[in-house]
Amino acid sequence: MNRIPTIIDCDPGIDDVMMLLLALRHEKTDVKLITTSAGNQTQDKVVSNALRFVSYINEKVEIARGLEKPFLRDLVIADHIHGESGIGGVELPEPSLEESDRTAIEAMLATLKETTEPVTIIATGPLTNVGALLLAHPEVKPKIKQISVMGGAVKGGNVTPQAEFNIYVDPEAAELVFNSGVPVVMSGLDVTHKAYLDDQDLARLKGKGTELAEMLHHMLQFYKDAQGASPFHESYYEEVVRLHDLCAAAYVIDPSLFQGDDFYAKVECEGRHTSGATVVDHMRQTGMDPNIHVLYGVDRERFVDLFLSSFDR
Ligand code: RIB
Ligand code: CA
Repeated sequence: MNRIPTIIDCDPGIDDVMMLLLALRHEKTDVKLITTSAGNQTQDKVVSNALRFVSYINEKVEIARGLEKPFLRDLVIADHIHGESGIGGVELPEPSLEESDRTAIEAMLATLKETTEPVTIIATGPLTNVGALLLAHPEVKPKIKQISVMGGAVKGGNVTPQAEFNIYVDPEAAELVFNSGVPVVMSGLDVTHKAYLDDQDLARLKGKGTELAEMLHHMLQFYKDAQGASPFHESYYEEVVRLHDLCAAAYVIDPSLFQGDDFYAKVECEGRHTSGATVVDHMRQTGMDPNIHVLYGVDRERFVDLFLSSFDR
C-alpha cells in the first residue's frame, strides 16, 4: 500500500486526541512529525498532552513545540470545552517520549526537505505554525501535497456567532494558508456537525473493553457535556458528541467518506462582530476562482466505523 507521508499540527484537545489515534494507527498515514499549536490550551499543556498520549499508545514520533501565540493577537484558549488539562480531566501517565529539541517550524522544514514525495499536513488547531512555515519558507510549498484543515464554517460559528474556534484564534494565519496556493481541504462545522458519535456509538466504544477505550470514552463524555449546540446546526436535537478534528484525518485516509466542492473563500480579519469568520462563496457569486475544497457531507456510519477500527489496530 502507498502510505501517505504526513505531518500533524494539533492542539490536544479531546478531539485532537481521537484524530491522533486514528492517524497514528491507520496503515495509510505515515506520520513523520507532530507539531503542537496553541489553541485549546497553552503550549505547555498541549505539548504535555501530545507527549503523554503518543507515549501511552506506544507510538514513536517526533513531537515539536509550536509558536506560543497567534501572529498578531493574544491567545484565546478553550478550557471551558476541553478542561483545565486540555483533555477533559483524564490523567495520562508521565511520557516516555521527550519534546523535540527542534521548534515546530524547524522540524516541519526539515521533514519537508527530507521526504522524496510531497507531504500531507493535517491541521486541527489554529493555523499559526502552518502559516508561519509558509510565510518564512515559501520554497517548501511544492513539497506539500495538501493541507487538511479542521476549521471554519460556511454557516455560523461556535466560539462566536460567526467564527469557528481554530480560525478565530488566528485569522491572519488562516487567511495566509487559505491563499497560499497550497491545496487546502476545509472540514468546517458544516461537515463536522454531521460527524458525530451518538449514544449507541459511545456504547460500542465502551464495549471495546480496553483501558484505552475506557479512557477515550471518558474524554468524549466530558466533551459531549461541554459542547454547545444551536438549532441552526446539524444534530442539534440529538444526544451526540462531534468529532471535529477526526474529519481532517479521515478525509486524508478515505476521501470517499465525504462530499465537498471547490469554492472561493476569504477569512475575515477585521470585522467587529465577525472576526475569524470564513466567508465562503458557496453560491459562486463573486466571480473569483475557487481557492479551497470545502467539505459539506459525510457518510457518518462509515466515518464512525473508521474511528472505532482504530481501537482494533
Ligand atoms: O471548533 C472545533 C475545533 O476547535 C477543534 O479543533 C477543537 O479541538 C478546537 O480546537
Ligand atoms: Ca483541535
